[in-house]
Amino acid sequence: LHVVVLMGGWANEREVSLMSGNGVAAALESRGHRVTRIDMDRQIAARLAEAAPDVVFNALHGVPGEDGTVQGMLDLMGIPYTHSGLATSVIAIDKQLTKQALVPHGIPMPGGRIVKSADLFKRDPIARPYVLKPVNEGSSVGVAIVTADGNYGSPIDRTVPGPWQKFDELLAEPYIRGRELTTAVLDEPGGARALGVTELRPKSGFYDFDAKYTDGLTEHVCPADIPAEIAALCCEYAVRAHKLLGCHGTSRTDFRWDDEQGESGLFVLETNTQPGMTPLSLVPEQARHVGMSYADLVEAIVEEALQ
Ligand code: DAL
Ligand code: MG
Repeated sequence: LHVVVLMGGWANEREVSLMSGNGVAAALESRGHRVTRIDMDRQIAARLAEAAPDVVFNALHGVPGEDGTVQGMLDLMGIPYTHSGLATSVIAIDKQLTKQALVPHGIPMPGGRIVKSADLFKRDPIARPYVLKPVNEGSSVGVAIVTADGNYGSPIDRTVPGPWQKFDELLAEPYIRGRELTTAVLDEPGGARALGVTELRPKSGFYDFDAKYTDGLTEHVCPADIPAEIAALCCEYAVRAHKLLGCHGTSRTDFRWDDEQGESGLFVLETNTQPGMTPLSLVPEQARHVGMSYADLVEAIVEEALQ
């Protein structure tokens, strides 16, 4: 096959996408495919028309790339592509729209509200502790945890560095104490399958950008050392979220679990439609755990795109 691996672009997660894309491209080459690497720019449609690939492997993360824009362009051009389509991407990139899609179907997610960043300097939008995050970023870009003792001031001090300096609006969600879990879902010929549950244990602080992409800063426990019923619930919610949102190829659903609350302490944070494919990423790690190499995983995602 001739595969274009689409990566980079101008999203805040550009560097992560380049790591994903270069890994994917090397894996495809190792399997004998012809690969064209494209770092997305404003001329992307013309470059794709010229390359005329059999399929695009979308290795973009964030906006644009994970948000439906690229998917819509590829639909118009009639080029098959990996991962989720236009409508799914539009919903899943937006953490608030995702709640509206999943909560009515019984998927537990933390309540939350969108707040103007400027209003944070007047009063707390919800009770502390809470989490502030941009509605449509990934890799913990712009995430801040506001602790009960007022780590950023009381109310938040606008001069203290934080996402309120970069984003006009933020999503405020109650902070869920406890543990960070994640489950990958892979579309297989027999249907969508959860690959397992991984617990992320950052050595300090929370599972932020550095903890995600710096080797040694986070312990990955795969499979997670959690009760079987919690693991089963993670797998059930991840597969249901994948199907309810209409995901394709692969997705990864992230959780917080308050281990003092049992099953009622488990919350879905979001479903990622373009999960990372870097050396420290979680979908490849869970695939490996079920006996699929990185290249096997990449092949399976490409094959699904051509169904
Ligand atoms: N947003 C990053 C790439 C992830 O979900 O893995
Ligand atoms: Mg994400």
